[in-house]
Amino acid sequence: MKGLIAAGGRGTRLRPITTNRNKHSIPLANKSMIELAVEKLAAAGISEIGIVINEGDSEMSDILGDGSQYGVTITYIEQNGGALGVAHVISSGKDFLGDDDFVFYLGDNIILGEVRGFIDAFYEQKLNALLALSLVKDPERFGVPRIENNRIIEVIEKPQNPPSQYAVAGIYVYDKHIHTIIDALSPSPRGEYEISDAHTELIRKGFAVGYSEITGWWKDTGKPQDLLEGNQLLLSQMDKSDIKGDIDDTVTIEGVVIIEPGAQIKGKSFIRGPVIIGKNSLIENSYIGPFTSLGENCHIENAEIEHSLLMNTITISSSKRIVDSILGNSVIITDKEETFPKGHKLVIGDNSQVEL
Ligand code: G1P
Repeated sequence: MKGLIAAGGRGTRLRPITTNRNKHSIPLANKSMIELAVEKLAAAGISEIGIVINEGDSEMSDILGDGSQYGVTITYIEQNGGALGVAHVISSGKDFLGDDDFVFYLGDNIILGEVRGFIDAFYEQKLNALLALSLVKDPERFGVPRIENNRIIEVIEKPQNPPSQYAVAGIYVYDKHIHTIIDALSPSPRGEYEISDAHTELIRKGFAVGYSEITGWWKDTGKPQDLLEGNQLLLSQMDKSDIKGDIDDTVTIEGVVIIEPGAQIKGKSFIRGPVIIGKNSLIENSYIGPFTSLGENCHIENAEIEHSLLMNTITISSSKRIVDSILGNSVIITDKEETFPKGHKLVIGDNSQVEL
């Protein structure tokens, strides 16, 4: 069995974080989403993985290389013609997949549980396709199955009146028949080749389409708030502290805290986990509260930060408490009260959100 991971797309709903980066490179608890996806497939025993990327993208290969550090081999496949829908991602992977069975994984989906159970169910029930379903509050955002007598009879993409409370999650197991179905698809009114149409077509043609319910949590990180939640959920999974940096005696540390090599925590700082602090970051006289991840080479002084996702090379020196925030690379936040005119001075890109 092979693995195919979708890692392209424009990430428009995550702007400005995705203005100059592929959304699959966004770190959650200091690990990029694409690494989390590769590790999930590797843990399920899959060793040949194709990653479908945007044309000309080198970000994914910069992060993953040839896959050897994850115990897998990776083939990068450009999605020719641009982001034309989830089913089009599978057509892009057709040569790589050949006639093999495969797990298809949308790289912006985060699950706590294992993928192996889905593969086992696919073979035990002798299916042509297995869909992972998750109960959600807002099914209209997803592909939604209509289920009768424990069988899926159709799947509707982003329905106004959802026929069930389930979302079809971005983790699928297929055999080769999905390719002929996708080859015959037409684009939907929004101009995309919809994976939900492919599922409905498989069912209409009499193929065996089954499902498994995701029991642990599942998150599609489509919106900024989802990133914060995904970060929180992954941080809450950390079960033991690991302190590799330098901590002054004057510092207080509570709860599960990971401090990566080269990081320094100084003065009267207070770190209350779950928190992860990246390599070579410096924290001075600051409070870092629960569910915060801080990337590499950041400098935080005289600040209070809680429930936030901070990426790399960030500088913060401010008495204003920062909560529920997502900060991209090289963001600077300082108090500048000694200069006139007084007031908030902002340099902010398109689609940013600030609550003062
Ligand atoms: C895609 C699929 C949808 C599925 C969702 C899961 O939606 O089209 O059927 O439920 O992924 O993450 P998108 O994220 O492209 O809106």
